[in-house]
Amino acid sequence: MQNTRAGFPDGFIFGAATAAYQIEGMAKGGAGSSHWDTFAATPGNVVRAEDGQIACDHYTRWAEDLDLMARGNFDAYRFSVSWQRVMPEGRGAPNPEGLDFYDRLVDGMLARGLQPHATLYHWDLPSALADLGGWTNRDVAGWFADYAAIVADRLGDRLTSVATINEPWCVAWLSHFEGHHAPGLRDIRAAARAMHHVLLAHARGIEVLRDMGQPNLGIVLNFEYAEPASDSPADRRAAAVQDAIYNRWFIEALTAGRYPALALEGLEPHMPAGWQDDMAAISAPIDWLGVNYYTRSIRAASPDSPWPATRAVPGPLPRTQMDWEIYPEGMYRILKRLREEHTGDLPLLVTENGMALDAGPDDTDLNDDRRIAFIDAHLDVVRRAIAEGVPLRGFFYWSLLDNFEWAFGYEKRFGLVHVDFDTLKRSPKASYHALAAALARS
Ligand code: FCB
Repeated sequence: MQNTRAGFPDGFIFGAATAAYQIEGMAKGGAGSSHWDTFAATPGNVVRAEDGQIACDHYTRWAEDLDLMARGNFDAYRFSVSWQRVMPEGRGAPNPEGLDFYDRLVDGMLARGLQPHATLYHWDLPSALADLGGWTNRDVAGWFADYAAIVADRLGDRLTSVATINEPWCVAWLSHFEGHHAPGLRDIRAAARAMHHVLLAHARGIEVLRDMGQPNLGIVLNFEYAEPASDSPADRRAAAVQDAIYNRWFIEALTAGRYPALALEGLEPHMPAGWQDDMAAISAPIDWLGVNYYTRSIRAASPDSPWPATRAVPGPLPRTQMDWEIYPEGMYRILKRLREEHTGDLPLLVTENGMALDAGPDDTDLNDDRRIAFIDAHLDVVRRAIAEGVPLRGFFYWSLLDNFEWAFGYEKRFGLVHVDFDTLKRSPKASYHALAAALARS
């Protein structure tokens, strides 16, 4: 790896990220059911019908995993708290075992010199709330705020930062319009409601956390650089609509209190009544923004389909195991655009960036040189953005461990550390060692 810690400003944070449902194992510790458990239990939704019951068994092996973080010379660990573990019914009595688990985990980070960066919602909505309509029900905002308060009350004194929601686009659009994630809906009315309620939940969460005096509050958005497949006006419009739904909806609501017209043109008829009245709360100040970036999206017009009438076109660049094009330049453009058009001086963190790579036919190949090159190329653009004045304060690799990659089950491997899902043995890959060397403190 060409990049090392020395090439970054003092205090720049290097971390790795995970999420509760993807690593913990929900069979243990009194967790309730979530919509991911039932989505995964429904045939056809997840590759090989895998689920998060055991995952990496991080619930038991967390100390070993934090040791890996510390030995990797990371400064910070981004983890998520599971709503289904803390509040098995989504509301009402918390599960003491669940809160005790996160208490140990956070203390374990501090004991190893790792900053705890917590995300409150990384997709495991309790089933009892899904029964009530989940993200399509406006009440979800209040349920989320109550849950946020319970977590902050127990852990807040030791958290470096708190993010309300991970990737609202996935929570709302991917899950309620495209149907690829739980709850697996393909319905524009449900999607429009979720697109708004996920931001309202963020707003109510921020209000309650501010009232409690919780510092350093943010949200994590995902961005995918959108480009037209050709110069035709129709393709350019398709890319612009995609950009509005994916990249602009959330950040414009958060920073300017409005939704982009190109997205509203399709969604407005399906929005919940009175949505305009929520925009002031949604645009209340935050302390930092998390940016997740993986790839770009090339869009063409799809004139025979209803709005948004766009489709993805495969591009020519080398791809990851997810079939995603490797395009670091897109991260640079997203970061610059945020700074120039949306976030100004607001501190940014790259909260996720990484690649899935096949482990090879016998699944023992730890020589992931392509991942080392991927990380290096993205760190290059991070440095370039910083040099050009983007207030970027940290970079978290996704992910520490191979884990449950949602609808792709355990097949797609993003980890710096290989996990054998039969024995649960952890084996650091070459990329882990390369990063550890690059991040060594002199
Ligand atoms: C992001 C998710 C994360 C993981 C990576 C590959 O969209 O936040 O949980 O699935 O993609």
